[in-house]
Amino acid sequence: MELIRVGIIGMGMIGRVHLDALRRIPGVVVTALCDSSEEKLQTLQAAFGIKHVCTDWQELVNLPDVDAIHNCTPNHMHHQVNEAALRAGKMVFSEKPLGINPQETGEIARLAQETGLPAGVNFCYRYYPMVQWMKQLISQGEIGEVRAVHGHYLQDWLMFAEDFDWRVDSSIGGSLRALADIGSHWLDLAEYVTGLKVERVFGDVATIHPQRKNPSTGALVDVDTDDWATALLQFSGSVKGNFTVSQISGGHKNDFHIEVVGSKASLRWSQENPEFLLIGKRGGVNQLQYKEAELAPELFQEFSSFPSGHPEGYGDCVKNSIQNFYACAKDNRNDYPTFELGHRITQLTTAIAQSSKEETWVTCTF
Ligand SMILES: NC(=O)c1ccc[n+]([C@@H]2O[C@H](COP(=O)([O-])OP(=O)(O)OC[C@H]3O[C@@H](n4cnc5c(N)ncnc54)[C@H](O)[C@@H]3O)[C@@H](O)[C@H]2O)c1
Repeated sequence: MELIRVGIIGMGMIGRVHLDALRRIPGVVVTALCDSSEEKLQTLQAAFGIKHVCTDWQELVNLPDVDAIHNCTPNHMHHQVNEAALRAGKMVFSEKPLGINPQETGEIARLAQETGLPAGVNFCYRYYPMVQWMKQLISQGEIGEVRAVHGHYLQDWLMFAEDFDWRVDSSIGGSLRALADIGSHWLDLAEYVTGLKVERVFGDVATIHPQRKNPSTGALVDVDTDDWATALLQFSGSVKGNFTVSQISGGHKNDFHIEVVGSKASLRWSQENPEFLLIGKRGGVNQLQYKEAELAPELFQEFSSFPSGHPEGYGDCVKNSIQNFYACAKDNRNDYPTFELGHRITQLTTAIAQSSKEETWVTCTF
C-alpha cells in the first residue's frame, strides 16, 4: 500500500489532535510539521520522530514528500495556506471556519473545484458513532416527519473580560467568533443529520464584553467579535429551528446539544455524553440508547474503534473525520464536508450576523 504523506501546519490544540489521529489511521504517515514555535517543533520531532519540521509554512507546502496538508492554523491563515496547498497540487484537510468571510471561502471553494483535488473541512462532530446512528434513524423514517431542529453550543472559557485568545481579535479570528467558531459546527450538524437545508435565518448576535484585557500587554482592547448569538432558523419544508451559541456560559465546557423533533419521536444527542442517544416518545417509555454494536454493525466498522461499553470521545471523532476523508479521497468520492460545504456554512453564519444587524429575516439563497 502506498502511504499518503501528510504535513500539518499549526501545532496548537487542534494540530496535536490531528497528529494523534493521523498516527492511528492506516495508509497515512505524518512526514512534516510546521509551527511558528521552534521549541514546540523540536519537542514534537523528538517525541514522534517526524522527518521534517520547519517554521515556514510555505516550505512545508512545497516539500516533495508531502502529499496532503492539514491546515490547523488560526483562522486568518486558512485561505492563504489552503490556496498555496491546492496550487502545489496537494490534498487539503482544513480546520473550520474555512475562511474569515464568504469572499475567501467562495474563492477557495472554486479553486478546489477547479483543481479537482480532495479538499475537506473538519466538521468532526458528524463522526461520533451516535451521531451517525441519529442520522440513520432520521433517514429511515424512524422518527417520522421532521418538524423542528433545535439546540445549543455553549462554552465558558471566554466568560470574563480578563479571558483572552487570538479568536477575540477580528483581524485574526474574523469578525464572527462564537458563531463561526462553534456555531459553524452546530449548523453543519443540523443540516447533516436531517438532510434539510437552512433557508431563512433571524439572528440576535451580541458582544457581551466590548473590552477585554490582553494578558500579554496588560492593555484593555476593544472587542467587536460575538460572545453570544441566538438564531431562529427555517429549514427546507418550513421545518422550524433555533440554536444558541455562547462562550460566556459558566459551567458549560463544550456543551454541544442537538434535538430533532419528529412526528413519531424525537432524538437528543449531547457531545459531553456522546455514547448515548435519547429517543423520546409520547405514550411510551423513553429510550436511552447506548452505543450498541449488535444493533448497528455497519456503523461500528467505520466509526467506532472499540467494542460497546468502551467510551469514545473527541479524539476519536476527529480520527473518524480524517479517516473518512482519506477513504473518500482514495475512492474518488466526496462524501465528506467539502470546501463547498465550508463556504455554505460561512455564508450561513454571515447571514445570521447580517440579520441581527438589520433586525430582519434573511433568506439564504445559496
Ligand atoms: N474542528 C474542531 O473541533 C476544532 C477545535 C479547535 C480548533 N479548531 C480550529 O483549528 C484552528 C486552530 O485552533 P487552535 O485551537 O488549535 O489554536 P491554537 O492557538 O492552539 O494553535 C494555533 C497554532 O498555530 C501556530 N501558528 C500561528 N501562526 C503560525 C504561522 N504563521 N505559521 C505556522 N504556525 C503558526 C501557533 O504557534 C499555534 O501553535 C482554528 O481555525 C480553530 O477554529 C477546530
